[in-house]
Amino acid sequence: MKRPRTLLALWLACSTTSVTAGDVEILHWWTSGGEANAATYLKDNIEARGHHWKNFAIAGGGGESAMTVLKTRAVSGNPPSAAQLKGLDIQEWGRLGFLSDLSVVADEAHWPEVVPDVARRIMLYNDQYVAVPVNIHRVNWLWANPAILAKVGVEVPRTLPEFFAAADKIKQAGYIPLAHGGQQWQNVTLFETIALAVLGAEGYQRAFVDLDMSVLSSPKMVEVFRQFLRLRDYIDPGYRGRDWNSATEMVSRGEAAMQIMGDWAKGEFAAEGLKPGQDYLCVAAPGTVGQFTYNIDSFAFFKLTNEADIKAQQDLARILLDKTFQVGFNQRKGSIPVRMDMDMTPFDQCARDSMTVFRESLTNGGLVPSLSQGMASTSYVQAAISDVVSDYFNAKAADPEQAAQRLARAVKSAM
Ligand code: GAL
Repeated sequence: MKRPRTLLALWLACSTTSVTAGDVEILHWWTSGGEANAATYLKDNIEARGHHWKNFAIAGGGGESAMTVLKTRAVSGNPPSAAQLKGLDIQEWGRLGFLSDLSVVADEAHWPEVVPDVARRIMLYNDQYVAVPVNIHRVNWLWANPAILAKVGVEVPRTLPEFFAAADKIKQAGYIPLAHGGQQWQNVTLFETIALAVLGAEGYQRAFVDLDMSVLSSPKMVEVFRQFLRLRDYIDPGYRGRDWNSATEMVSRGEAAMQIMGDWAKGEFAAEGLKPGQDYLCVAAPGTVGQFTYNIDSFAFFKLTNEADIKAQQDLARILLDKTFQVGFNQRKGSIPVRMDMDMTPFDQCARDSMTVFRESLTNGGLVPSLSQGMASTSYVQAAISDVVSDYFNAKAADPEQAAQRLARAVKSAM
C-alpha cells in the first residue's frame, strides 16, 4: 500500500474497506485546469485507499475523441475499470453486455434515498446499477467579466433583449461581447440555451426529448434559429475550433465580456484563483432564469476479471458518492453534488444558487436535459441536430425557416 500523503488521505486509508490493492483505470476527458484539478482529487482519493491509478485521459471537451478510444479498447477485450459515459449512452453499452452490476454498493450506500430520481434512473440498465453519478452541472449559465460591464456601463443581462442591447454597447466599446469556440458541441450549447429561452422548458422538452415534429418545425423554432444566429455578430472571427476553456480565459483575461457555458467554466475560474461576485459573475443564461438545463457526469463500470481490480472498482463506486468526496470534487469541478443531503455551506454562491434552482426545478417543471451533453436524446439524434445547428451557424447565407425544416427532417431520419 502506498503511503498516504495528506491528512485526508490518512483518514481515508484508515476507513478503507479494501484490503487488496487493485488497478483503477478511468477513461475521462477532464484535461483543462479545473477539470484536471477535479480528476487529481479523484486520483488522490483512490490512491489513499491503496489502489493504483492508471491515467487514461483523452482530451477534448464533449468527449468525442474519448468515445472513439473507448470503443477500440472495449472491442479488443481490454476495457478500463470505468469510463465517463453519460445519459442514453449508458443504456447502449449496457445492451451490448459490457457493464457490471453495482447494485450491492448502491444498496449499501442507500443511493435511492440520496440521489434524485432524474440522476438515478440514468444509471440503471435492466433495473441494475451499471454507472455512478458524480455531479450535477448546470449548462444554462452566463459568465461575465464585471470590470468590462462596469467600464461599458451595462448591467448583467437577464433577458434576450437585454443581452443584445448590452452586447451592442460592449462591441462599440471595443470588447468582444461573447467568447465562443465554434466546435459542434459548443454551438449546440448556445443553440439549446436560446431554445430554452424562446420555447420555455415545456417546448424544449417536446422538441428535444419527445422529438415532436410539430415543435421542431414550428414558427417558434424558426424564431430560435433567428435569435441563435444573431449571436454570431457578437463573437470574434477566430472562434472556429477554439476550445471552451480558451473561451473562458478570454473572459477572465478581460478580452471578452461574457460566455454562455456549463459550470465547468467555474472550475476554470477557480483554478485561476478567481472569486465569484468579484472577479466574475454567474447568472442564468438570458431568458432562462429559474430554469435548469442539467448535465450529469457519471462513470459506467465495465466487467472485469481480476479479483483485486473488481474490489478496487467497487471502492471507486463508494468514493464517488462519499459525502466528503462530493464536496472536494465538486468545488474543483464547478458542479454541485449529486447527493441531495449535502450541506452547501462550503460551496460558493454560484453553486448554492445552482442547488436552489435545481431543487425548485425538480417540482416546477423548469428542469430540462442538455442536448449538447447527450442527456436529452440518443447519440444519433444528437449528431443529426448538431450537424444542422453547426452548418446553419457557419453558413454565409443562413435561412432560419429552412433550418427548422431541415432540423425536423434530420431528427426524423435519426429516430
Ligand atoms: C462535458 C462534461 C463536463 C465538462 C465538459 C467540458 O461533456 O460533462 O464535465 O468537463 O464536457 O470538457
